Amino acid sequence: MSKAIRLFSFIVISLFVSSAAMAATADNAKLQPQEWQKINVGPAQGTHHKLDGHPGFENLPHQQTLVGANNGDYNLVESQGMPQQAAMLMPAELPEAQNEATLGYLNNSGTFAFLEFASIFIVAGLFILFVLFNGISRLEKGFSGKLIKRWSGFSISIHWLGAISCIALIFTGLVLGLGRFYIEPSTNVYGWAGLVGIASSLHGLMAWPFIVGYVLMVLAWFPKQMPASYDLKWFAKLGGYLNFGKKVHPDAGFANAGEKLFFWTFAIGGGLMVASGLVMMYPETFDVSKNAANLMLAIHITATIIISAFAVVHFFMATVMSEGSMSNMTTGYCDENWAKQHHNVWYKELKDAGKV
Ligand code: HEM
Repeated sequence: MSKAIRLFSFIVISLFVSSAAMAATADNAKLQPQEWQKINVGPAQGTHHKLDGHPGFENLPHQQTLVGANNGDYNLVESQGMPQQAAMLMPAELPEAQNEATLGYLNNSGTFAFLEFASIFIVAGLFILFVLFNGISRLEKGFSGKLIKRWSGFSISIHWLGAISCIALIFTGLVLGLGRFYIEPSTNVYGWAGLVGIASSLHGLMAWPFIVGYVLMVLAWFPKQMPASYDLKWFAKLGGYLNFGKKVHPDAGFANAGEKLFFWTFAIGGGLMVASGLVMMYPETFDVSKNAANLMLAIHITATIIISAFAVVHFFMATVMSEGSMSNMTTGYCDENWAKQHHNVWYKELKDAGKV
């Protein structure tokens, strides 16, 4: 079987297994944050004055729809998306003391919406500007035509499994996080409800292949991502990507310092994202308190913003900025001149070992 077919089957099977796993556990997945936000505005039908004066509910406007799971006590409306008021995050059973710091943080949902937007579109815009002014990094000696093995078929499979699902999570997460500010005003309630419904389901579905890809990438690749003495110098020289002044190529092993930074941000931030996401998907299984659930959402949003910004830079580095690097993750091979120019220490190791 060709490599491409193996890769494709791996992704399809993982997605299939994920969907089945999700369907099997769907009953447990209640009270997800994306299901707590209202999609249409109207007065609460219940007796939410019962909540007045309780910590976290002091400033709850009476004419605003209460949000939460459809709860017998308060007859709350159906809800979707990220809530605007943190106090509304919680199922309105017995209000417990809310951690003011977390609530204050989550109340800034407009700011988060902007940061989520910025982490993708403004970072992309800045990168494009940088490329327009600076130009890309070309192979100074051109392509040699001699290929060196860099990534195994397994590594390529887990990369694309994690990458495709990560991109799907980022974009569906965008709809859930900033849609109410940037998309909802220009749609009608049915369009918006449909969009949020699709985004919410896809977000839950894509979490599974992402978790598989994430865990495998971190476990398989961390030995190659350890810090080295020359990494700081790589940062000081901006990786040699500046085309102004004297051209330099700072030392780099299998991974350069920038890739290592991305890897460890992905490893730590991705771990926080996965853990907080799972807790929010299965609050009953994890038996979380309201404060813990709020904290999980705060962690999830923060990690998302950081990882999204890195992912955008990573995407542009692979596709535009670094000539010859995209084929590394499609074929598993890099050109010898690419290895010499961008990963000289790794190239020397291969040479010393008689592998090139
Ligand atoms: C957004 C989700 C993605 C994640 C989490 C991710 C993660 C990673 C990680 C951890 C590495 C290894 C460390 C490194 O060499 O940088 C890597 C390598 C790579 N990625 Fe991604 N990636 C993602 C998306 C993409 C996309 C969309 C592309 C291109 C269209 C891409 C192209 C590559 C390439 C070419 C390499 C190999 C670089 C090399 O050989 O030095 N990645 N990715």
